[in-house]
Amino acid sequence: MDTLTQALAELRRQFTVPTDVLRDVAAAFQADLKAGLAGAPASLPLLPAYLANPTGRERGRYLALDFGGTNVRVLLVELLGDGVVHVRRRVSRRLRDIARGYDYTAPDVTPAALFGFLARLVGMVAPAEGRWPLGFTFSYPCRQTGLTRAVLLRWHKEIRVPGVEGQDVGKLLQQALTREQVRQVELKAIINDTVGTQLAGAYGDRDCRAGVIIGTGFNVCYLEEQVFAPPGQIINLECGDFARLPRNAYDNRLDAASANPGGQRLEKMVAGLYLGELVRLMVVDLAERGVLLAGAAPAGLDQPYAFTGEDLGRVLTDTAPDQPHTAALLAKLTGSAGTPAERAALRDICSMVVVRSARLVAAVLLGLLRHSDPKLERRHVIAIDGALYSHLPGYGRYLSLLLDQALGTAARQVIMRPTPDGSGLGAAIAAAAG
Ligand code: BGC
Repeated sequence: MDTLTQALAELRRQFTVPTDVLRDVAAAFQADLKAGLAGAPASLPLLPAYLANPTGRERGRYLALDFGGTNVRVLLVELLGDGVVHVRRRVSRRLRDIARGYDYTAPDVTPAALFGFLARLVGMVAPAEGRWPLGFTFSYPCRQTGLTRAVLLRWHKEIRVPGVEGQDVGKLLQQALTREQVRQVELKAIINDTVGTQLAGAYGDRDCRAGVIIGTGFNVCYLEEQVFAPPGQIINLECGDFARLPRNAYDNRLDAASANPGGQRLEKMVAGLYLGELVRLMVVDLAERGVLLAGAAPAGLDQPYAFTGEDLGRVLTDTAPDQPHTAALLAKLTGSAGTPAERAALRDICSMVVVRSARLVAAVLLGLLRHSDPKLERRHVIAIDGALYSHLPGYGRYLSLLLDQALGTAARQVIMRPTPDGSGLGAAIAAAAG
């Protein structure tokens, strides 16, 4: 075996989640969920959403502001009942656009500047006449004390804007709407993006009992029907924070250098933002050991997060012989297109992190299903969205396969339902319920 093949075998060993470990993670997740619901210490924050599933009879026009990933979106949505929705207007802006000269994730941005940016986007979509109810999807952990009161516990996904943690983001948005003269808009609900995704799924199918986002970040919510009286209540699990996991040296390195060391350990092994960074850490390590890209200057890879989730997708979908897109990407990042063996190695590395991500998500969903319905006596529709899930070919199929393998014949009760734009549409549904 040559040194590159050996190094890859060693990496594969570190990133493999064998079936028995997958089962252990599922059991630990289920136990943590049970402990958390009973008020015992647990690594799952369990944040009530102050909402149950919609009835499907919600109708009318609503605004939705969706903030929490790479892009901020504002939609004007028409709800027509029973799962039928039309998006009448839409704007989308990146939160960070270096080419246009702004970065609303940076530590020198004030809360007023960030929320002013959001309010102006709402103003671009809100019609001038009439009163417009707004649902606000804010995809960071919040302690809610009502549908429009949500205190940010901590930023995730590498946002570093000071002065927002500990504040009521509903209040910050309302003040910004007033300052920006967007007075025709009334905040009716604040929700997490997983909750939005579940609401969007449940609007057309009352058996939708969970919402999942696998995108820049990772999280799951579900309808808790045992602890709360009917119709139950949706709980944001914030399961990116789940910590009872086997980790390797690259996971630890990524965590130590992140904006929130020790936090979001599962998210850092699953979500798009971090998978690219894991790949970068592995490539830099192999390059430093002289095993990969020996003739190149991987300086372009020195910068944390220089290898993005999109880059990872580009490599994995580059199936043509000689991997031309991978060659171009490597040339851009390192000055060398790499040898065919090196490009194939990069594909292997990308696939290791993606496979592990899907296996850990499967473990979480298995733990959740066992909690909600141990014998799977009912139908469970799981609404799911996020760039990694929807844009990475094969991710969704692999996740379904893992659930099928683990659940056997009962797997027919579990339906994974892709729910595009669920986080935004769900905000409109929440506004209708609010
Ligand atoms: C946030 C969650 C969110 C998830 C997916 C995580 O970083 O903590 O609230 O649901 O990302 O966007």
